[in-house]
Amino acid sequence: MCGIVGYVGGRPALQIVLDGLRRLEYRGYDSAGIAVIDNSVILTEKKAGKLANLEKALVERAGDGISVGSTAIGHTRWATHGGPTDRNAHPHLSADGRVAVIHNGIIENFARLRAELEATSVEFVSDTDTECAAHLLAAEMRALREAGAGAGAEDGPQLLAEGMRRVVRRLEGAFTLLAVDVEVPDAVVAARRNSPLVVGRGDGENFLASDVSAFIEHTREAVELGQDQVVLITPAGIEITDFTGAPATGKEFHIDWDASAAEKGGYDYFMLKEIAEQPQAIADTLLGRLSERGEIVLDEVRLTDQDLRDVDKVFIVACGTSYHAGMVAKYAIEHWVRIPCEVELASEFRYRDPILDRSTLMIVISQSGETMDTLMALRHAKEQKARVLAICNTNGSTIPRESDAVLYTHGGPEIAVASTKAFVTQLVACYLIGLHLAQIRGVMYADEVAAVVSKLQATPDALRELLGGMEDVRALARDLRTASTILFIGRHVGFPVALEGALKLKELAYMHAEGFAAGELKHGPIALIDEGTPVVCVVPSPAGRGVLRDKVVSNIQEVRARGARTIVIAEEGDDAVRAYADHLIVVPRTPTLLAPLMTTVPLQILACEIAAARGHDVDQPRNLAKSVTVE
Ligand code: M6R
Repeated sequence: MCGIVGYVGGRPALQIVLDGLRRLEYRGYDSAGIAVIDNSVILTEKKAGKLANLEKALVERAGDGISVGSTAIGHTRWATHGGPTDRNAHPHLSADGRVAVIHNGIIENFARLRAELEATSVEFVSDTDTECAAHLLAAEMRALREAGAGAGAEDGPQLLAEGMRRVVRRLEGAFTLLAVDVEVPDAVVAARRNSPLVVGRGDGENFLASDVSAFIEHTREAVELGQDQVVLITPAGIEITDFTGAPATGKEFHIDWDASAAEKGGYDYFMLKEIAEQPQAIADTLLGRLSERGEIVLDEVRLTDQDLRDVDKVFIVACGTSYHAGMVAKYAIEHWVRIPCEVELASEFRYRDPILDRSTLMIVISQSGETMDTLMALRHAKEQKARVLAICNTNGSTIPRESDAVLYTHGGPEIAVASTKAFVTQLVACYLIGLHLAQIRGVMYADEVAAVVSKLQATPDALRELLGGMEDVRALARDLRTASTILFIGRHVGFPVALEGALKLKELAYMHAEGFAAGELKHGPIALIDEGTPVVCVVPSPAGRGVLRDKVVSNIQEVRARGARTIVIAEEGDDAVRAYADHLIVVPRTPTLLAPLMTTVPLQILACEIAAARGHDVDQPRNLAKSVTVE
């Protein structure tokens, strides 16, 4: 979950790498560092804390000539091995200072390698696993040179690539590594195993990064590296091999969003921008998925209709917000498709020995496509011969690559750590998959599918209307900023919405918050209610599910009777609920199963505004990273 950037070319490398790091800071932000090659030296600077600390240090060093260079690598870190200190920040240098390495992932056999290196008198200066790779690469480069390889300057880059291949063959775990060698000034070498890496193809310059947002302002032509590949970039070109040195190819692609999509666009926070983008994100996710007759068309799903007819059980596996999307999907899939559907936390899934076989469909949901818990669950399912369908927002990431099929959500880049537009687009993807399964298994008639589809198509406009009237929610947030706890209750699909509301508040406002199934209150949690305790109540639509709605209203009365201050989210037209609401948030009418597309949104705004009112960094909350690539 670190961010990695590399550049080689004719322009000031330092600035290009710093700009790239700024765009990747969402991936990790507990320290940052750069290495620049210039005039036969590697200059490094690294600082604990956010990128701004590194930039400040660079400004202070300007006097002693930190160079702009033409080759540079940079790193923004989320600590795994070794605390977030200057010393542990990347890049890491070899003992002779001639090689610099940055790394995303975990080298699992680092303790053994470190012991081996220390036995040869190498002195470690950090607590990281990464430092091993720097020392190993320097040793391999020395050995290659001593063996007479690379005598001509033109062989330098090839030598560096071979050195890297020798190193990665010794590493276990997950890694993206980037390295530069002072004796090979116009090259950056990189390797990828189970960790993201893309190449940006420029004109007389090339780029490496954890994701394309780092270089999108310079080029929109990219190459996605496969697993276990090494790539060498020079101003003249890009060369890819596997770990043995055999020529290999990556997947070329054109990036169809532009740099402005990765900017804040006038909002105070990425999160607010991403909340506002939700109507468009939903519309984009529906785009091209519906035939003229209103039937579901899922082109990217490479499972045959017969495969999907053979499915007798669905598992949905995900983490965090994506897990909450999966919880909503369970209600829709079981209702529409009439097959059992279990929802599991990815981090728990494989440890309980789940029963899977060829007729199990596992749906993994991940915005980033890199979440290690989800990836490991996916691999476990594949070992058991289950078919895996990924719902993912990040093209070319590991989870969709390893799945049998993928349905991409077209949410665009989500930069804020708190997931917003990813959640609603995941819901849309789940609905599409549910309807598709129901359609091909013949359990819903075409007109029934078309009726749901037309309701889905109406949600972007409804959401725009909702977002236009959130002033009261903002005022409420300012009022709630000093609350010590906020509880959330809901039933049916309102239950995952309650969990999601609580998760948002915890991660952004650092407040105690909990979501409950409203019916469970009386079995314990109701004891938490005190005079004035804020309780957010998600009320189902009275249309069609009147019983459910009445039950939630009873639960609201129960908490009010014990002194709670109720914040009620209810559908427009449900006037009877006003009597039980200290604050009423009205959402547009939506069929019950689709309602989370509406009811979640005020909770996102509530959490964002409370966090801002409490003075927190909304986009980069403490202790978190956008992409969690460790188990
Ligand atoms: O990238 P993923 O969807 O796999 O991420 C899963 C969770 O880490 C993520 O949803 C997390 O819970 C969000 N930060 C919550 O807002």
